[in-house]
Amino acid sequence: MKLLIKNGILVTPEGETKADLLIKDGKISKIAEQIQENCKIIDVSGKHVLPGLIDIHVHLREPGFESKEDIQSGSAAAVKGGVTQVCCMPNTNPVCDNAVVVNYILNRAKEVNLCKVHPIGSITKGEQGETLSDIGKMKAAGAVALSDDGKSVMNSYIMRLAMEYANGFGLKCLCHCEDANLADGGVVNEGFNSTVTGLKGSPRAAEDIMIAREIALSESLDIPVHICHVSTCSGVEIIRSAKARGVKVTAETCPHYFILTDDIITSFDTFTKVNPPLRERRDVEEIIRGLQDGTLDCIVTDHAPHSLKDKQAEYDLAAFGISGLETSLALGYTYLVKTGKLTLSALVEKMSAAPAKILGLEGGELKVGAPADITVADFAKSYVIDGGKFVSKGKNTPFNGFCVNGVVEYTIVDGEIKYCNK
Ligand code: DOR
Ligand code: ZN
Ligand code: ZN
Repeated sequence: MKLLIKNGILVTPEGETKADLLIKDGKISKIAEQIQENCKIIDVSGKHVLPGLIDIHVHLREPGFESKEDIQSGSAAAVKGGVTQVCCMPNTNPVCDNAVVVNYILNRAKEVNLCKVHPIGSITKGEQGETLSDIGKMKAAGAVALSDDGKSVMNSYIMRLAMEYANGFGLKCLCHCEDANLADGGVVNEGFNSTVTGLKGSPRAAEDIMIAREIALSESLDIPVHICHVSTCSGVEIIRSAKARGVKVTAETCPHYFILTDDIITSFDTFTKVNPPLRERRDVEEIIRGLQDGTLDCIVTDHAPHSLKDKQAEYDLAAFGISGLETSLALGYTYLVKTGKLTLSALVEKMSAAPAKILGLEGGELKVGAPADITVADFAKSYVIDGGKFVSKGKNTPFNGFCVNGVVEYTIVDGEIKYCNK
């Protein structure tokens, strides 16, 4: 089984180089200026060849919420977006708090056979914040991290135990940071636009307090921790100063937090409803600075597909979340690379190598011997985002009508073409 990718522009941490890339038996077997080989050839002249994207914060909804998404449709959305590996959050029904659900997800993903799927186990049983899940058994079954995403573990004592226990099994906690009491049911950012619209606001402090708590626990225990979907300028600053002290904290953000402000909520379009909420201009600017200076290690989607029924409601009642897998690369390219804020190498690092490193996953690099997980993209090509055309069941994007650059042409997993748009 061989495949030769010819005349592409390879994106590596060092920059961009024109080269051919040969795949043999699912692995990258050779990278050179010119390769001649008697096998299937794809000519990608002028297109970029990236290490397959790795998204460590995705909601696939199966088991239990298959009307929003399932492992088949979510995996199809991933490979359409150039994503070769996803880590899926445990807020399913039943919650992924035991080895049976971990095994179920892994088995379904194998049957679907598109991207690689890594389950994240919940920190607490049923994500109820009270009793620790079967952490050791989930790890043995293949869970790659722990999270109660959708909410914080409000009891700091339980969270401390979770970090210690998880660390004993070599697992990291991925922390959704939201003080539920302070957020108090807020649905948008607390500020000018919450006042104007009359929608209930949730203050930055609700996020920042929990970011600071997770860092305090991590620092005092000397245990690594990962902060999910950072949205506030102040949160970036807390993480920056913790990193400067040597705290083992890593952090992610999402395209909607480096592109959109809460001005967009004045439309009352529920596709703009997400948790944490869209913030203000100064937050967007600080998130970008955090990406530039390394405070924010990686970009994830927090792909949160919902059915139209769950979104077609009053703003207060609609579900939180944005369907993101099919637009993240193009949004990252258009709003970070095209604008000169990050190099393409830096963007790709944040969408592939960095997330792999945070969770100790294989992949993220184009090098001989590595699994042939590869994305080919045409950044010269532009298109207008239309959520109605998503293959994800979640059509909920606030980016409808946005014109972006970056079309995925091929997504290759372990040397097999899983998506082709040629
Ligand atoms: O917007 C969100 N949607 N934020 C979360 O934390 C959970 C997620 C979901 O599961 O829909
Ligand atoms: Zn979350
Ligand atoms: Zn999430």
